[in-house]
Amino acid sequence: MCLESSVLALCALSRVAATSAPFSEYILTPKSRTVVPVSVYNVNGTVNNAQGLTKAGGVATYQGASAVTYDFGKNVAGIVSFNTGSVSGSNEFIGISFTESSLWINSNGCDATADSGIDEILWFPVAASGSYRAEKKHQRGGFRYLNVYHNTSGSVDVKNLSIYFTAMPQVADDKLGSYSGYFNSDDTQLNRVWYAGAYTNELCTIDPTAGNALIYLGEITSTMKVTDPLPWYLNYTITNGTSALVDGAKRDRLVWPGDMAIAVPSIAVSTYDMASVRNSLDSLLTLQNKTTGALPYAGVPFSEVLPIFSFTYHLYSLIGINDYYLWTGDVQYLEENWNTFKFALSYSLSFVDETGLANVTSSADWLRFGMGGHNIEANAILYYVLNLGISLSGVVGDATSEGPWQEYAGKIKAAAYARLWDSSANLYRDNDTLPLTPLHPQDGNAWAIVANLTTSPAQAKSISAALAARWGKYGAPAPEAGATVSPFISGFELQAHYIAGNPSNAVKLMKLMWGDFMLDDPRMTNSTFIEGYSTNGDLHYAPYTNDPRVSHAHGWATGPTNALTAYTAGLQIAKEAGKVWKISPSLGGLSKAQAGFQTAVGSFSSLVQETTKGLSVKFSTPAGTTGAVSVEAPADGGTMRIKSVGRKTKACDTTVVIKKGTGGRVGVDGLAGGEYAVTVTYN
Ligand SMILES: *[C@@H]1O[C@H](CO)[C@@H](O)[C@H](O)[C@H]1NC(C)=O
Ligand SMILES: *[C@@H]1O[C@H](CO)[C@@H](O)[C@H](O)[C@H]1NC(C)=O
Ligand SMILES: *[C@@H]1O[C@H](CO)[C@@H](O)[C@H](O)[C@H]1NC(C)=O
Ligand SMILES: *[C@@H]1O[C@H](CO)[C@@H](O)[C@H](O)[C@H]1NC(C)=O
Ligand SMILES: *[C@@H]1O[C@H](CO)[C@@H](O)[C@H](O)[C@H]1NC(C)=O
Ligand SMILES: *[C@@H]1O[C@H](CO)[C@@H](O)[C@H](O)[C@H]1NC(C)=O
Ligand SMILES: *[C@@H]1O[C@H](CO)[C@@H](O)[C@H](O)[C@H]1NC(C)=O
Ligand SMILES: *[C@@H]1O[C@H](CO)[C@@H](O)[C@H](O)[C@H]1NC(C)=O
Ligand SMILES: *[C@@H]1O[C@H](CO)[C@@H](O)[C@H](O)[C@H]1NC(C)=O
Ligand SMILES: *[C@@H]1O[C@H](CO)[C@@H](O)[C@H](O)[C@H]1NC(C)=O
Repeated sequence: MCLESSVLALCALSRVAATSAPFSEYILTPKSRTVVPVSVYNVNGTVNNAQGLTKAGGVATYQGASAVTYDFGKNVAGIVSFNTGSVSGSNEFIGISFTESSLWINSNGCDATADSGIDEILWFPVAASGSYRAEKKHQRGGFRYLNVYHNTSGSVDVKNLSIYFTAMPQVADDKLGSYSGYFNSDDTQLNRVWYAGAYTNELCTIDPTAGNALIYLGEITSTMKVTDPLPWYLNYTITNGTSALVDGAKRDRLVWPGDMAIAVPSIAVSTYDMASVRNSLDSLLTLQNKTTGALPYAGVPFSEVLPIFSFTYHLYSLIGINDYYLWTGDVQYLEENWNTFKFALSYSLSFVDETGLANVTSSADWLRFGMGGHNIEANAILYYVLNLGISLSGVVGDATSEGPWQEYAGKIKAAAYARLWDSSANLYRDNDTLPLTPLHPQDGNAWAIVANLTTSPAQAKSISAALAARWGKYGAPAPEAGATVSPFISGFELQAHYIAGNPSNAVKLMKLMWGDFMLDDPRMTNSTFIEGYSTNGDLHYAPYTNDPRVSHAHGWATGPTNALTAYTAGLQIAKEAGKVWKISPSLGGLSKAQAGFQTAVGSFSSLVQETTKGLSVKFSTPAGTTGAVSVEAPADGGTMRIKSVGRKTKACDTTVVIKKGTGGRVGVDGLAGGEYAVTVTYN
């Protein structure tokens, strides 16, 4: 009713000028690239005025063998520098090392980047009145604690200790931390989670010439004993352009397509840094095998050292093409990469056998085990990508593959249900290899809902309940990776609970894992999200042998940032940068949530509040767009009134009567962009 062209013209509102996003007090990005420690964490030996280095102009005097651990209060990234005042003694040295977690503060070095040992101290031979600065390749990509050591019998005055913040290199110094998106709710811990996710992705956005040099890949094995701290440096060019999105801030500092599937939507709703996303995506697409269509497991130099095929990571690059197009609306990019998409998808489909399911023959995934045969996660992701392909076919106007893709998708859904669904557990089994495994993976079950591989809303709800019933004290287990909690796969689990219509499961899981543990546990950085940990709360990630190696700023752990915007505040884009949108909030036990972001087509915002009689949803979308609004149907029924705000016509206003026991979501489609107030009154 609101889409007739005459009405559209009336409905059109002038575009609101971009202003800086509200709630900026939560933004963790440093305001200047010069960052100094905020406090002294620990002093060993004799250091006069150690806290002098936490403020401008202070001098700390290191006498004899001594060390100070400085705390930056949050995870940061940068190139260290300092000055000396007077120096007494000969052959005096100042050493610097870094750690993300307080757990790995060490008198011999940093935390680790290799799968054994620790990373060595940067030593500077010093003289009086000198200036010292680490080389660019010795920038440290993630640390909250910085140790300053003095190892000789003399004394050294250290002044002006700071780091040059190296993350988000493409952003002008005075624009650091200017987000295009925001989130707020009545739960301050979840607000901090949203901003910590955004900041984690910023720390994972690096100078592409400072990528991982993979110094020890394949060299250090569990049988090789490392006793001395290892040299480390970051000087490999991993992408074109001036910034790159990588998996982790400290390491790997490589482009991994799986990680991007969680990081990219969270970036889009916070900083909208799509240029870094594109640089990274391009670095993967350019490596497509011209004979097979295979895309790499990870970008260079990993792909050169270990040219491994991963069934799932190959598909994640195709999800990357869709995500980039979806958030930028760049149809030309999609067209340019359409053949890459089709070629790659046909390679995936070559693994489909007579059962209708793909038979996975490569073990490489997110470091889970048992990644073979008719694996449920792989098939759910394949089903998801087939549906993306079908929808993108329409965008590029190439229907040639649509029919076959539809057929493949239908068979996968039916075969997955017939062969892998375990109705006694209300979960999919990992695969159908005999003897049947008792393992019901988190990844495949979360993905089954996200991909809509499930055959009914009731099935999705039962999976959501079964996953939630397995949670432990520290979060959702991923039994397919040992005694592991995976913030990566749990990001998909969050989406699954929302899609299944169990939003309170998602809110509970976010608070349990991302709030109480990943932010507030004292071993964490209180600012960025860890790559993985143990179900018993140890900072041990089962796939790694070396605990100090775990990254505390991993983009794949930032799922809540997008989930809170897209599902809690309900702000979603459906097509082309939001030319088509969906407003579908689910408070999940919160009483208020609001979010906003900007894309190439304009500004989007929503504000959702419980009222005494029901729910209020106010939202605003750009002129020239269209979309839908929906809410969870109240159990006893009610009324949903949709009113356009500030228009001369009432043509966009409508009322929906919700019958008792309707279930699912109710709402209206076909609304023209603009400002709306929705009032839901419960019976
Ligand atoms: C300070 O000493 C403690 C106890 O020996 C040690 O654990 C810690 O690593 C030392 N800190 C530094 C920065 O050397
Ligand atoms: C201090 O450390 C430097 C750099 O490792 C080393 O060359 C020097 O010998 C050490 N001095 C002492 C007294 O240990
Ligand atoms: C303090 O360090 C910063 C960063 O390296 C440098 O730009 C500045 O010149 C130094 N100040 C002094 C007084 O040396
Ligand atoms: C990176 O640094 C190492 C160690 O200094 C050096 O051997 C290597 O040649 C450098 N690589 C590049 C690409 O600059
Ligand atoms: C940079 O772009 C060129 C041309 O597309 C490509 O050959 C090269 O592989 C790219 N470099 C990286 C690191 O992706
Ligand atoms: C492409 O894949 C084929 C088959 O696996 C392999 O033999 C070939 O080396 C690959 N080409 C490149 C450039 O990696
Ligand atoms: C099937 O799943 C189980 C449990 O994850 C695993 O141990 C087994 O290796 C898998 N089968 C194949 C062929 O990968
Ligand atoms: C999958 O393919 C491998 C290699 O061709 C084969 O050994 C295995 O039996 C197949 N698995 C299934 C479940 O068909
Ligand atoms: C999910 O799949 C079913 C068919 O099994 C289809 O009817 C439904 O529309 C799909 N839902 C979405 C959101 O695509
Ligand atoms: C964690 O960071 C928040 C700001 O994001 C701060 O208010 C709080 O005091 C910090 N908690 C600890 C234990 O440092």
